[in-house]
Amino acid sequence: MNTLIQKLQSVKNSQELEEIRLEALGKKGIITQKFSELKSLQGEEKRQFAQEINTIKQEFESLYYLKKTQLQTQELQDALQNEKIDVSLFASRSHRSLGHPINYTKDRIIDYFMHLGYELCMGPLIEDDFHNFSALNLPEYHPARDMQDTFYFNDGMLLRTHTSPVQIRTMQAQTPPIKMICPGPTFRRDYDLTHTPMFHQVEGLVVDNGSQTSFANLKYTLQDFLRHIFGDVKVRFRSSFFPFTEPSAEVDISCVFCKGAGCRVCSNTGWLEILGCGVVDEYVFEAVGYHNVSGYAFGMGIERLAMLTCGVNDLRSFFETDLRVLEQF
Ligand code: PHE
Repeated sequence: MNTLIQKLQSVKNSQELEEIRLEALGKKGIITQKFSELKSLQGEEKRQFAQEINTIKQEFESLYYLKKTQLQTQELQDALQNEKIDVSLFASRSHRSLGHPINYTKDRIIDYFMHLGYELCMGPLIEDDFHNFSALNLPEYHPARDMQDTFYFNDGMLLRTHTSPVQIRTMQAQTPPIKMICPGPTFRRDYDLTHTPMFHQVEGLVVDNGSQTSFANLKYTLQDFLRHIFGDVKVRFRSSFFPFTEPSAEVDISCVFCKGAGCRVCSNTGWLEILGCGVVDEYVFEAVGYHNVSGYAFGMGIERLAMLTCGVNDLRSFFETDLRVLEQF
C-alpha cells in the first residue's frame, strides 16, 4: 500500500495517474482485491479488516484527487504556454479575396431579389429556337433577331443569346403567381473592347393573376435595386423596344464616376445604361398558354455592373484569370 502512495506522489502526468488508479482500484487492483478477501472472514475480524481497507481506500482517493487537480492545472498551463500564437510574427501570404468580381456581383444581385422572395431558377445554355426566340415574339425573319448574333449548331439548336428563354421555361413549368430570378452565361457572336462571346445576364420575371402587377411595381423594384447596388444614384427610365415587353424601357443611372457632370466613361452624357425591362407582352403569355395574367420582366448584364462597382475598365480582364488582377478584389 505504501508503494502505491509513493508512486502516486511521484506521478508526472495524467496518463501515469490513470495507470496507478487502475493498479489500485481497477477490476484486478490491489485495493479491489482486498475487498474480495472480505468474503472469507467472519465477525469482528471481518469488521476490522473492512475498516482498515476503507481507510486505505479513502487515503488513496483523497491523494488521487489532489494529484489529479494539480496535474490538470499544470497541463493547462503548459498548453497555454506552448500553443501560444505570436501575433506580431509575419503571417504567410494568402490568396483570399472576395472571389471573382463576376460571381461577387452576381451574388449581390441574387441576394437582393431573394430577400424579396424571388425564386432562383436555371435554364439550359443550349436552347431551341422556340424558347430563345419565337415564344419571345421574335418569329423567324424578324429583324430584331439581328440584335442578337447567334451561335447555331448544325441541328438548329443554339447557344442562348440571353437569359429570357428561362422566362418561358419557368412559365411553362409553373402557374402564377411567379417571382423568379435567373443568373447565368449567355452567348453572342461579338468580340471587341466592350463585348465578349460569352457574358452573363440576370433575368427577372414577375407574373400574377389579373392585373395585379403594373409598370409602377417594376419601376419601384428596379429603382430600389439600383440604389442598393450603386448607392446614392439617380435612376431614369427611357422608353425603348424589346419584342417580348410592351411598353419597354431601358434604365440608366447617373454616372458613378462623374456624378452626372459628364466624363469619358459616360460619353459626356452623365448617364450609364444599366438594364432593359418592360411589361410582359401579351404575345408571350399566349405562347405559354397563360390567360388573364399580368407581369413584368427585366434583364441586365452582370459584367457591366461588375465593371462599374469594382472599378474595372477592361472587360477582357474578367476572363484572363490573371491572379494579379483577381487578387485586387
Ligand atoms: N433579353 C434582353 C437583352 O438581352 C433584356 C431584357 C430582359 C429586356 C427582359 C426586357 C425584359 O437585351
